[in-house]
Amino acid sequence: MLITGAARGLGRELARQYAQQGWQVIACGRAHPAQAFEGRIEFHPLDVADPASILDLATRLGGRPLDVLVNNAAIRSGNPGLYRFAPDEFLKVMRTNTLGPLLLARALRPNLVVGRMGVIANIGSRAGSMAEGLIDDYDDDYAYRCSKAALNMASAQLAQDLRVDGITVLSLHPGWVKTDMGGDQAVLAVEDSARGLRMVIDSATIENSGSFQTLDGTHIGW
Ligand SMILES: NC(=O)c1ccc[n+]([C@@H]2O[C@H](COP(=O)([O-])OP(=O)(O)OC[C@H]3O[C@@H](n4cnc5c(N)ncnc54)[C@H](OP(=O)(O)O)[C@@H]3O)[C@@H](O)[C@H]2O)c1
Repeated sequence: MLITGAARGLGRELARQYAQQGWQVIACGRAHPAQAFEGRIEFHPLDVADPASILDLATRLGGRPLDVLVNNAAIRSGNPGLYRFAPDEFLKVMRTNTLGPLLLARALRPNLVVGRMGVIANIGSRAGSMAEGLIDDYDDDYAYRCSKAALNMASAQLAQDLRVDGITVLSLHPGWVKTDMGGDQAVLAVEDSARGLRMVIDSATIENSGSFQTLDGTHIGW
């Protein structure tokens, strides 16, 4: 199991819980976390916004089998709002939140093929849903919303392309979670979000590949 953006937030908690359950966890991050991981977690440097860093990781892993890839790392834009966002920052968000997960799926496909489960969990957001994203959500972070909407399409296309390998691809909304990104007002503890996501990931089947679900398995409209 490999998790991106695992030095803090939801990625770190997923790594902790999976390791506690006996999984061999490869936790990736831009830099070693300030606080050491508990348990048997192997750290690898990875900047998901840098295609060379993704290829480096794939080279380091070689033909090592991978059961699950969790594309968790993401950023929000520092300047939301129609008249405030900067074009370069918009592209940085897209590069991190959309292109990174897609390149990782491509680079690690051979590892997933030889793994037992073959699951790619793209951590998306309801904020990227055309059908539901604007309901009771007044966030005007264009870059973030667009990056997560585009990640949804990447998940759907990947699900179609990787079905031949028996790889299941999911887009998952973790809920509004108390992390640096979610903030203190968020409603979910990071432990609960990670626990819910694990249940959805662990029960993934090829039949529900290409679906968009919340942490309790409820389907979200695209
Ligand atoms: N929290 C919420 O309420 C919420 C709601 C909906 C969806 N989500 C999604 O859930 C996922 C986790 O979010 P979170 O709340 O845990 O966010 P977070 O607390 O801000 O943590 C983000 C993680 O992503 C990493 N990251 C950012 N850019 C990276 C890059 N270029 N390369 C590698 N790692 C990078 C960060 O590492 P550094 O320490 O190096 O910055 C950090 O470990 C994200 O996909 C987010 O969009 C969160």
